[in-house]
Amino acid sequence: MADTKKTAKFTLDGRDFDLPVHSPTAGPDVVDIRKLYGQAGVFTYDPGFTSTASCDSAITFIDGDAGVLLHRGYPIDQLASASHYLEVCYLLLYGNLPSAAELEDFETRVTQHTMIHEQMHNFFRGFRRDAHPMATMVGVVGAMSAFYHDSTDINDPWQREVASIRLIAKMPTIAAMAYKYSIGQPFVYPRNDLDYAANFLHMCFSVPAEDYTVDPILARAMDRIFTLHADHEQNASTSTVRLASSSGANPFACIAAGIACLWGPAHGGANQACLEMLNEIGTVDRIPEFIARAKDKDDPFRLMGFGHRVYKNFDPRATVMKESADEVLELLGVENNPILQVAKELEKQALADPYFAEKKLFPNVDFYSGIILEAMGFPTSMFTPIFALSRTVGWISQWKEQLSDPALKIGRPRQLYTGETERDYVPVEKR
Ligand code: ACO
Repeated sequence: MADTKKTAKFTLDGRDFDLPVHSPTAGPDVVDIRKLYGQAGVFTYDPGFTSTASCDSAITFIDGDAGVLLHRGYPIDQLASASHYLEVCYLLLYGNLPSAAELEDFETRVTQHTMIHEQMHNFFRGFRRDAHPMATMVGVVGAMSAFYHDSTDINDPWQREVASIRLIAKMPTIAAMAYKYSIGQPFVYPRNDLDYAANFLHMCFSVPAEDYTVDPILARAMDRIFTLHADHEQNASTSTVRLASSSGANPFACIAAGIACLWGPAHGGANQACLEMLNEIGTVDRIPEFIARAKDKDDPFRLMGFGHRVYKNFDPRATVMKESADEVLELLGVENNPILQVAKELEKQALADPYFAEKKLFPNVDFYSGIILEAMGFPTSMFTPIFALSRTVGWISQWKEQLSDPALKIGRPRQLYTGETERDYVPVEKR
C-alpha cells in the first residue's frame, strides 16, 4: 500500500481530525481509520463491510463496476481459457506463473499427497449416511488437525507449506469420499496418473465393479469450474478464514471455518439453491410468476444465482460458465435440456426487467455452474462441496499472506451497542 500525501478530514463536535489516505495499485483510495478511536473516541459503523477494507492483499483484484476479476494481475477469462487449475493454484499461492520445471514440481507435490490417512476412513464412517456432504466436509477437514498434527505449527514456514499442499491435494479426495459415503458406495482411492480434475471425476464416479472412463472434455469443464471458483478476494468465507487465522488457529481449523461459512445459501450454497429454483420453475411459462415473486417486497424469495455484493455490471466468471454450459450440454447431447432453456429464458426476462436493471442484478457464477454439474451426473448436494474444494487454494493463499504480514493483529470488530444499560441483578423470587 502506498502512502499518499492526501488526507481525509473528519470533523466531530467542532474538532478536526486528519486521516491518512492510502492508494492501492488498483481500485479506489482507502481512508485509514485505525487511529480514529484513539484520537476521536468514536467507532465507525459498517455492518456487512460494504465500505471497509479489512486487510492489504496482493492476490486478487475485482472491479465490480467494470466486471473485472484479476488473479495476481491476470484476467480470469484468460486463465479459464488458456491456463488450468493447478497452474492457477501456483499463481495464487506464490505470486507468479510457474516455469515448466516449477509447475512440474508443484504438480508432483500435490499429486503425491492425494491420499488421506487410512484411519480417516473410519472417521467418515461415524457420520450418518444421509448427512449433507458439506456437513461431512466441515467435520473431516476440521479433524485433519488431529490426523496431520505435524503440519499445524503456523510459525514454521515448512509446516505451513506442507499444510497448504495437503489441503489442496486432499480436498478432492475428501469431497469425493463425502459423496460416495452419502450414496452408500465404497470409497474410491485417487489415481495419480490422472490430472487433478479427471482424478476427482474418477473418485466420484468409479465403482469397484466398473471403471469410469473420464471424458477429456468433461475433465476440462470440471477444471474450468475449479479455476473460476479459485479465489475471490475478501468474500465471506475468505474473511472467515482470515478471522479464524488471526487468532493463530491451525490451518485445518481455519479452512473448516471457511467451508462452514461457504455453505450458506447467500454464498456457496447458491449453486444448489439456484438449480433447485430452476427445477421448481420447471417450464418457461412459469418464469413471470417467479420474477414477480422476486420483486415482491413481502415475499422473501430471491432469484438465486442473481446479484452480487461486488459485481454491479456483470460477473466475468458467469460469462465463461455460460459458454462452458453450452459446450458440456452439447457434448452430452442434452443441449435441449429443459432446465437450460428455463435458465436462458429467465436470464433474458430478468435482464429486460427494470427492477433487476435498477438494482444492478446480473447472473453470477452460480447461475450456470449447477446446470453443468448436474449434466455431469452430480446431485445438487455436491455443488457446494465442489465450490469448497475449488476455493481451498484461495483460502490457503489468503491465509499464508495474512500470516506473513508483520502487522497482523487478531481480528476484533467493535459494535454499536443497543442493549440495556447497567442495571442491578434481581433475585429470582423478586422478579
Ligand atoms: N433477487 C431479487 N432481488 C434481489 C436479489 C435477487 N437475487 N439480490 C438482491 N436483490 C435486491 C434486494 O432485495 C435489495 O432490494 P432493496 O434495495 O429494495 O431492499 C437489493 O437488491 C440489494 O440487495 P442486498 O441483499 O442488499 O445486496 P447484497 O450486496 O447484500 O447481496 C447477494 C448480494 C447476497 C449475493 C444477493 O444478491 C443475493 O442474495 N443473491 C441471491 C443468492 C446468490 O446468488 N448468491 C451467490 C453470490 S455469488 C457467490 O457467492 C459465489
